[in-house]
Amino acid sequence: MKSRLDKLLSANGFGSRKEIKRLLKDRVVAVNGVRRVDPSTDVDPELDAITLDGEPLRILTTVYLMLNKPAGVISSTEDPDHRTVIDVLGEPWASMDLFPIGRLDVDTEGLLVITNDGPLTHRLTSPKTGVDKTYYARLRDPVDDAALASYREAFRAGVPFRDGHVCLPAKIDRCGDEADGVIVTIQEGKYHQVKKMFYVVGNEVAYLKRESMGNLSLDPALKPGEFRELTSDELALLRGE
Ligand code: URA
Repeated sequence: MKSRLDKLLSANGFGSRKEIKRLLKDRVVAVNGVRRVDPSTDVDPELDAITLDGEPLRILTTVYLMLNKPAGVISSTEDPDHRTVIDVLGEPWASMDLFPIGRLDVDTEGLLVITNDGPLTHRLTSPKTGVDKTYYARLRDPVDDAALASYREAFRAGVPFRDGHVCLPAKIDRCGDEADGVIVTIQEGKYHQVKKMFYVVGNEVAYLKRESMGNLSLDPALKPGEFRELTSDELALLRGE
């Protein structure tokens, strides 16, 4: 896809648009071997060879980041009052028109993939083709065997919400030998879905963390607020390949 040269270079960490204007004057940026000084030059990073002082540039066009979302930031791309997940990324990512695949509540932590791949985002978040999402939930009340059995049955049958929505079947298991920790897998992404499901069955979520989306799991080495690019294997897992 074509893009302005300055926008592309800025989005790849070469500075602000103003700095790119200077860079194009001071250094040699060439497109297919021809020096370009006009910031508005149209280039297609997938088809055109772009070099800086003779060295080929690796230009990112489609980006996939795995963020361990920290509590306290919102899953929007911009907000006048709150810190967003895009603010957490900082530059150059913040200039790349990225957005999260789905949303997590402000107090939820865990796996959030951030990308500029619209079709994949649509596929993974569409209610028709939505993928499984697995969460670790720590609950207000400990879960004994009888409670676990009743939650399991309610989740399997589909938890009814007050607005008339009946959730798609979901799964629940204990998390190791934790008295109040469970692993829940849901197929949808309704607002406050996991919290509402536990509310309906008479418990409450005290802490929530997304562990996986489809076949992609959160890298346990990423602390809250840390992120990295997906590997090609992880991208294939996310795509369901
Ligand atoms: N369910 C919730 O209740 N909150 C989230 O952030 C994600 C799923």
